Amino acid sequence: MKKVLVTFNMFREGFAEMESRYDVTFPCGRDFTYEEVSEMIAEYDVLCSMFDFPVDRRLIDKGEKLRLIANYAVGYNNIDVPYALAKGLTVANTPDPVTAPTANLALALLLDTARRVTECDRKLRTLGKAMKIGILENLGTSVTGQTLGIIGMGRIGKALAKRANACSMNVIYHNRRRLDIEEETRLNVLYAAKEALLSQSDFVSLNAPFTPDTRHLIGEDELRQMKPSAILINASRGALVDEAALIKALQTGIIKGAGLDVFEHGDYPSAELLEMDNVVLTPHIGTQTLDTRIIMARAVGSNVIGFLDGDRPVSCVTQV
Ligand code: GLV
Repeated sequence: MKKVLVTFNMFREGFAEMESRYDVTFPCGRDFTYEEVSEMIAEYDVLCSMFDFPVDRRLIDKGEKLRLIANYAVGYNNIDVPYALAKGLTVANTPDPVTAPTANLALALLLDTARRVTECDRKLRTLGKAMKIGILENLGTSVTGQTLGIIGMGRIGKALAKRANACSMNVIYHNRRRLDIEEETRLNVLYAAKEALLSQSDFVSLNAPFTPDTRHLIGEDELRQMKPSAILINASRGALVDEAALIKALQTGIIKGAGLDVFEHGDYPSAELLEMDNVVLTPHIGTQTLDTRIIMARAVGSNVIGFLDGDRPVSCVTQV
């Protein structure tokens, strides 16, 4: 019987079909550590990994029987994909169930930051009647009629564009590869060079994967090209943004605000961001809903079954 190792603690119901076919090892009540996985992996045909679990060369080399790395995520920057592919392994991801919830969260961060929802909530709770309330207080940024610039027009970028259109925003985008004209028309989006997008947008949303090329996609120079009234949204990967440069830009009014679900240096934001009212912070919750968790597990299971039994398609990663 084929052996599957799942590194993370997850509701089992999404994995039921996979469990009925193979010998599956799950951790109990917590994730397996890197060291634990290193010690076990030699016996397994398949590794199911979470987006923050490093599947590096050392681990891949220990997987003597390993043939598939099935990531529980659309992103796969936790995996040394070139090395895995060069060794003849297959790498799979879960784009479908991730798209809508992540686009929803990007829109939520946009609306929250623009309309100061969390800030007002926090002030009401902490200041109570000392909070200044009035028709000229707590003024936010309009969304309707404003321009959203989306950098990275893959599935999540497109899903965000649809949502932004529903809010009557104008959407421009930048992508490595321009969409064809029919798709641009259908999505009601216009292509822009990165510099033009940065200077024209009221909101800039990052929806690109993390690769060596996208590290610090937004740094000091890019922040300077943005409007002083602009708001930056990042629900992709933290290292797309130079967080130190962003902090400086927010402190000095180079840009107006930011809505961040991901941070450059791990799970937590830099301390300075915690002090800023013009920033909304969430701890990488783009896919954090109960049903998405289960559907993503099902998608991982389906990739594993498709790979081992060949009875369905596998969402294969073919490039970095
Ligand atoms: C979440 O961050 C994902 O890559 O699916």
